[in-house]
Amino acid sequence: MKSVCFSSVKGGTGKSSICILTANYAASAGYRVLVVDLDLQNSATSYYLDSPDEADQHNIATALHSEHLIENIIPSNYPGIDLLASSLDLVKLRAISERTLKCILDSTPLPHDLIFIDTPPTYDNLVLNAIHAADLILSPVAFSQFDFKGALFFQSQLRRETDKLPSWRLLFNFYRPARSENPDSLRNQYESLFRDAFSDTIAPVTIPDTTLIRRSIDTGEPITASTAKAPLHSAIASLAAYCGADRFSGRF
Ligand SMILES: Nc1ncnc2c1ncn2[C@@H]1O[C@H](COP(=O)(O)OP(=O)(O)O)[C@@H](O)[C@H]1O
Ligand SMILES: [Mg+2]
Repeated sequence: MKSVCFSSVKGGTGKSSICILTANYAASAGYRVLVVDLDLQNSATSYYLDSPDEADQHNIATALHSEHLIENIIPSNYPGIDLLASSLDLVKLRAISERTLKCILDSTPLPHDLIFIDTPPTYDNLVLNAIHAADLILSPVAFSQFDFKGALFFQSQLRRETDKLPSWRLLFNFYRPARSENPDSLRNQYESLFRDAFSDTIAPVTIPDTTLIRRSIDTGEPITASTAKAPLHSAIASLAAYCGADRFSGRF
């Protein structure tokens, strides 16, 4: 079982979208997947449940509070994906010990091959629960000053407060290939800035800038290997393989 968390101090970087699409890819390729939604904004939970009431009694807050995982996992509406849903009760757990999730995952045999954890755009004890529980920590970034500063902050926190720096990778999201080799173009300057500062910690996959991400999440439009969708399909396939799901899926 491998666990991957999506985390960045900045909002809107694509954490929830990429978490959902990678989980869907892995599940449609035949892996058993658990999605953990640690974000109060509950993007993943509302995506995976037809009715939010389904998570009233069983969710990630009750799991962390009771330290019982299995009975708080519920099936999602996506075949092959189970869910530890978000809950407003997460606000009561902000002072929780940083390693609670890791401890309960380590002591609970689960049938899942992969765990994908979505997190809020903060750096608090709940996010640290995701970080400590993860074998791979992915921080999606766009080419902007805020994203760059956020990544530097995240790196220094991981270095100072955890032993998880070797598990951390930046993931270029909203990626557009360079239109010219001109080093003075803003886009090329940002790519060089990130590559110079973070070299080995940049994941070997980029996620293209495409409205298909939003259409897929909001309307359920499938992502296939057809010509128009191939760039996103192959990016998510590569990311899933990087996360440990290397079986192929043609549609998710
Ligand atoms: N690669 C991308 N190309 C275009 N839009 C994207 C991409 N990734 C994310 N988005 C859009 O950006 C917005 C924020 O994404 P979201 O996954 O909610 O970010 P976060 O969870 O980090 O706050 C959403 O509207 C989503 O559809
Ligand atoms: Mg989100």
